[in-house]
Amino acid sequence: MDNWTPGSWKSKPIKQDVVYSDSDGVQSALDKLQKLPPLVTTQEIHNLKKHLKNVALGKAFVLQGGDCAELFDYCNQDMIEAKVKLLLQMSLILIWGANKPVVRIGRIAGQFAKPRSSPMETINGIEMPSFRGDNINGFAATPEARTPDPSRLVSAYFHSSATLNYLRASLSSGIADLHSPLDWGLGHVITPSIKEKYERIVTRVKDALRFMHTVGIDTDRGVETVEVFTSHEGLLLEYEQSLTRLQRNPSSSSPSDSSHYATSAHFIWIGDRTRQLDGAHVEFFRGIANPIGLKIGPSISPEDLVKLLDTVNPTREIGKVTLISRYGASKISSHLPAHIAAVQASGHIPVWQCDPMHGNTQSTPLGIKTRHFSDILSELRQALEIHRAAGSFLGGMHLELTGEAVTECVGGAGGLTEEGLGERYTTFCDPRLNEKQALELAFLVAGFYREWDEEKEEGVNSI
Ligand code: PEP
Ligand code: CO
Repeated sequence: MDNWTPGSWKSKPIKQDVVYSDSDGVQSALDKLQKLPPLVTTQEIHNLKKHLKNVALGKAFVLQGGDCAELFDYCNQDMIEAKVKLLLQMSLILIWGANKPVVRIGRIAGQFAKPRSSPMETINGIEMPSFRGDNINGFAATPEARTPDPSRLVSAYFHSSATLNYLRASLSSGIADLHSPLDWGLGHVITPSIKEKYERIVTRVKDALRFMHTVGIDTDRGVETVEVFTSHEGLLLEYEQSLTRLQRNPSSSSPSDSSHYATSAHFIWIGDRTRQLDGAHVEFFRGIANPIGLKIGPSISPEDLVKLLDTVNPTREIGKVTLISRYGASKISSHLPAHIAAVQASGHIPVWQCDPMHGNTQSTPLGIKTRHFSDILSELRQALEIHRAAGSFLGGMHLELTGEAVTECVGGAGGLTEEGLGERYTTFCDPRLNEKQALELAFLVAGFYREWDEEKEEGVNSI
């Protein structure tokens, strides 16, 4: 890798930088992080890479989801279980719909840092730094709490590791055992029709497993349980650098074949606000061997998109980069076709993923940030159609969701209205889909795929 080191990003202009007043504190936090073990292994990172290659080639689907801003307080049994179960349930629905394996990636175990539109805000007449995420400063509205505190970097590591530990332990203890998806527990808030549809899918999965058992192909544990990978926005480069390790490539037979891996998570992405071609974030990301994401919105030109791909993936590894598009329901049709055409002409084969959340945020007349279920669904449907028309594959969706019964996005079968938003509005950043809305969305997206499969079959039958 030309002129790249884990710290070469420091010579580039940086956006969303955090300025600490306690530079000794920063140094000791980073020294500590450098000595701690990786949170994930290179073998796991390579497994995800293999799966994402399949997604890029149209053979699998990726579901990525979780909180907008994870808090240290979310590191508890109930919240971790609720989120994981929701991802598992949604993935089961998507497997049934898209008829493809589903790769699950949580925005979990490290999704703390948030880019902000303004570094300062005024609350009750007092100007103070904006809340930038639990790994940087505190949410409490005082200038003291909002001062960036470097010890939070180490705390972020330990909260990530505790979350990941419970996630791994739950998976290995059978939380995701495909023989008992009904025990994954649908919340009591689910509407009867969703519940019934879900139970029908579960019956089919069980029948399939029984069949595999009968014919003797379920001896491998691999078919009975599932993998869940972790991800977050790689915003805090000091943190990411400190957890970057030079390690042997596990898929290579040569002992001298080593690369730098970001070991804070399996997958990290660059946000829409920090993807400048000559900026620090792109510089850091171009040197790591992990699969990476790039958020792309209406402000990136097709030419710059290809330049970015050339920079972060010069060898054109298939599926190395996931393009996470987030234009908004009213803008997607004027941007996505040109982006797809430019990428196709370039020869890159990325994973295309639709984030129907970040381009659809709006404020109610009372100033509450929300998103309309219908806009989210509309952007997803348009993304699927535009990709299909272009001969491209929409390989996944990227959602902000929670297993809690929050009231943050309006619409969906539950009919949440703007008036109802105040009931359980607990997000510290963007509005998330609740369990019911997330499952409903999974069913609707699964339905789009099934509609098309049926159309295809009809087409074949009518020839
Ligand atoms: C996010 O994913 O929470 C986010 C800030 O997204 P974007 O960079 O696309 O605005
Ligand atoms: Co967000």
